[in-house]
Amino acid sequence: MEDNDSLAKIAAEIKACRKCPLGKTAHRAVPGEGNPEAEIMFIGEAPGYWEDQRGIPFCGAAGNLLNELLASINLKREDIFITNILKHRPPNNRDPLPGEIKLCSPFLKRQLLVIKPKVVITLGRFAMNFFLPNLYISRAHGQPRKITWEGIPLLIIPLFHPAAALRNGEVMEKLKEDFLKIPQIIKEATNPPPKEETPIQGSLF
Ligand code: URA
Repeated sequence: MEDNDSLAKIAAEIKACRKCPLGKTAHRAVPGEGNPEAEIMFIGEAPGYWEDQRGIPFCGAAGNLLNELLASINLKREDIFITNILKHRPPNNRDPLPGEIKLCSPFLKRQLLVIKPKVVITLGRFAMNFFLPNLYISRAHGQPRKITWEGIPLLIIPLFHPAAALRNGEVMEKLKEDFLKIPQIIKEATNPPPKEETPIQGSLF
């Protein structure tokens, strides 16, 4: 990373990017938004219809749910940074293609290097499998995992996607429960519990 990289610079490059066809088919780029010093970075899959119209991540129905979930742990959008793996909408919300991910992910890497979040929360199967390829969201959700991605140490918490929660009541319950675990996970990441001292055996001199 260049020393003087910034979120504004990355966003300007994303808006101008035409490396893959999505830059031409989408209405607007959605680089991401939020606190440049956020402890928590949320990463979704790709912009949907409303995000593409407005240039803002998670601003449709899934975004409204995300705002409520954030409020349940006393967080606001301004406290976090939120972005997606892809920065332009795939036509008709189809799954991102491997080539698109390869061309787009250097932007995500630079955002991670600038923000240096304590915790990365992936939303949905797709974003989780980007960092943790072999996991199933039904088993892995809500469990933090330490990884090194492209040389960057990350603490990832995979969560269900809010859009999936809107379609399925059980997923909604699990997503709500997982959200309530986030503050403790961050606390432990910030202040790991002290190692238990091993009692020193032996004579008193
Ligand atoms: N779904 C996503 O994965 N990202 C958005 O920004 C909106 C919906």
